[in-house]
Amino acid sequence: MDLPAFYRGRRLRRSASMRALVRETTILPEDLMMPYFVVETNDPALRKPIGAMPGQFQLSLDELEKQVAEAVALGMRSCMLFGIPAEKDAIASGAYAEDGIVQRATRRLKKRFPDLVIATDVCLCEYTSHGHCGLLDENDTTGLVQNDPTLDLLAKTAVSHAEAGADMVAPSDMMDGRVLAIRTALDDAGYADLPVMSYAVKYASSFYGPFREAAESCPSHGDRRTYQMDPGNFREGLREAAADIEEGADIIMVKPAMPYQDVIRAVRDSFDCPVAAYQVSGEYAMIKAAALNGWVDGDAVMMESLIGIKRAGAEIIMTYFTEDVLRLLRSENER
Ligand code: PBG
Repeated sequence: MDLPAFYRGRRLRRSASMRALVRETTILPEDLMMPYFVVETNDPALRKPIGAMPGQFQLSLDELEKQVAEAVALGMRSCMLFGIPAEKDAIASGAYAEDGIVQRATRRLKKRFPDLVIATDVCLCEYTSHGHCGLLDENDTTGLVQNDPTLDLLAKTAVSHAEAGADMVAPSDMMDGRVLAIRTALDDAGYADLPVMSYAVKYASSFYGPFREAAESCPSHGDRRTYQMDPGNFREGLREAAADIEEGADIIMVKPAMPYQDVIRAVRDSFDCPVAAYQVSGEYAMIKAAALNGWVDGDAVMMESLIGIKRAGAEIIMTYFTEDVLRLLRSENER
């Protein structure tokens, strides 16, 4: 049979070494940021498994430090802290308290791991008695979260994280104007060099379900659809990203990651700042559950999911798989 020359893509797939040579996208330890949940508790040994997130825990300060020490030894370069306060109230006092749980955790970790990039989640939902990301006005019958009065508290929270030594603040509340409010407050307080990673393109997603158990931040009534974005909207995501960059954001995040890869790609192509993507709790839970049932190969699906997110254009991936990936990369290197 005499065929004319045709494309032979298989030439470059013949061996593992050849495939590695031509691989376009690989996951590196420095791509990953690990979220941790730290609890204000009297029990220094607290290490409470999160039901829908196998392998993840709510941690006391001591346990957090141990966990981070292990991850750093494996090659972890950055993490993100979420706090669960002992008491919640209507004005989210724990969010901006000088001795709040995230502030204490940041001080503790920064001292022991000066090279670790510590980002802090800036939001009120873990600290409000009603679980919303901003303030409510009891006299307002609409029940809407109050945008502008919330900004001051977010800015105060960000400054208190900066004072504790955070390397980056990451507002996730989706109030309008919060990046400007936070940037201005940081500059005024002498933290002009501290970057803001904005959860700019954050959808009202059902994939956050397991997180709300982990962070004890489920709204007691209503939902977050009056501030987080509608999942059907793509162009609106670009508008949110543009606004946050204008207001001073240094890094733009898209969240969740896997169902929004078109948005990640568009943000990457439209702006020149670093782009982050958050593989959220529900994405993690689905993969873990299938793996624990033996329905998929957990490690392989984990890596493929992360490569997909990076290939879509994310330079930074927040993922609960960070420690698993580091362990896997290490064992592959040892082979
Ligand atoms: C706080 C916040 C949420 C997540 C990150 N920051 C929850 C929410 O908006 O309800 C979700 C993270 C995850 O699901 O892993 N506002």
